[in-house]
Amino acid sequence: RGAAQVLVASNRGPVSYEVQQDGSLRTRRGGGGLVSGLSAIGPDAGALWVCSALSDGDREAVRRGVGEDGVRMLPIPAEVHADAYNGVANSVLWFVHHMLYQTPLEPVFDADFWRQWENYTRYNRAFAEALADEAAEGAAVLVQDYHLTLVPGLLRKLRPDLRIGHFSHTPWAPVDYFRMLPDQVAREVLEGMLGADRLGFLTRRWADAFTVCCTELTGGLGDTEVGVHGLGADAEFLRARSHEADVEERITGLRAEIGAGPSGAARKTIVRVDRTELSKNIVRGLLAYRQLLDDRPEWRERVVHVAFAYPSRQDLAVYRDYTAEVQRLADEINSQYGTPGWTPVVLHVKDDFARSLAAYRLADVALVNPVRDGMNLVAKEVPVVSDEGCVLVLSREAGAYAELGEDALVVNPYDILGTANALHEALTMAPEERAERAKRLSAAATALPPSQWFLDQLTALTGS
Ligand code: G6P
Repeated sequence: RGAAQVLVASNRGPVSYEVQQDGSLRTRRGGGGLVSGLSAIGPDAGALWVCSALSDGDREAVRRGVGEDGVRMLPIPAEVHADAYNGVANSVLWFVHHMLYQTPLEPVFDADFWRQWENYTRYNRAFAEALADEAAEGAAVLVQDYHLTLVPGLLRKLRPDLRIGHFSHTPWAPVDYFRMLPDQVAREVLEGMLGADRLGFLTRRWADAFTVCCTELTGGLGDTEVGVHGLGADAEFLRARSHEADVEERITGLRAEIGAGPSGAARKTIVRVDRTELSKNIVRGLLAYRQLLDDRPEWRERVVHVAFAYPSRQDLAVYRDYTAEVQRLADEINSQYGTPGWTPVVLHVKDDFARSLAAYRLADVALVNPVRDGMNLVAKEVPVVSDEGCVLVLSREAGAYAELGEDALVVNPYDILGTANALHEALTMAPEERAERAKRLSAAATALPPSQWFLDQLTALTGS
């Protein structure tokens, strides 16, 4: 039995390491809701974060026995991790929950898949064993996401004394779509999760979809409780961070890239910030922007689409191809419409958080048009940070729609003309209406800050 009172388990942890030229290890700290949420319980709460060693630096840190207090990295063998993470989690479960499989992109459940599934199980078992080893009697364990669906069931067998929670940061697929998974996999995923005392989802819609899957495929939820916790933006952190010197510097740089329109007036900006991810629908966003320039020539020279599309999961060919398509289309729009003084699409692919905040501050319109998304925090962050009282164009398929839908301009993400029209409406909205909507958006976006989001889950799980 270990000493940890509160344990978090996720594939990606809060820190990573990089081997420097001189052989020393450089520490990089990650952000995100879970990192700031966990800080809410303070350093003396006996918290431990169990995660995978992902980079060469991470594996080297494990080998040398160095690391942060409160973090345990698991040195999962490379081929086990690749099958679990790239194979099962990101190619199959991610695609099912985001409903990204559509002819001709279809899942292939062949012998390779079953090897990957075996490694996914092995990978989940490594987490369950580490958690069982580290947890104090009666401790609370919060397992995260689709990478670790089998952990609650496996851990329950090893340690019946624990309070086990699982939280899904993705959508949950409707039952008819979920059943695309081989029966054994569908059943093991659901039964694995039902090993938890409590399951959390970002919106009611995903929680209900999960419940229906259980009703139809496993005979119901049993003793497991299902709750909804809609993670919000961290207003305090974002407002302070977005006024630091490096962000101001990026604002100057971005302003220069955006330039001024024919009359010398600053150009309007349509901003998007995403991982380059199929579910984010970046290509259709670019097509909608091109449609706007086609249909309404008055916007030419007067608007810029600032699109940050940061590389993600580049081991997978379908992500690499998607990244190339985004770049190709941005270039095509720029050569079709660009002039010596105007670049219609300013696309950046190198991850830079300070520059993202700079773009948020300059945004007149934020475009968040995923085909499906668990929540989408960009939709919540831009209204908090924007200096311009930006208008949010939001897909009805993002979890954030449940909370922001009334004050956003809502689009069907597949509808390119509809999205182009919404962009026009956003660009031309009267200042008073913009301001009022922006105020309400910002209030709704920050209703459940990460610290409260985390504490609510912990309280619901432990009953104290
Ligand atoms: C989504 C998932 C997270 C994941 C993140 C980044 O938000 O819900 O679990 O960490 O994407 O993806 P990556 O594969 O880079 O960890």
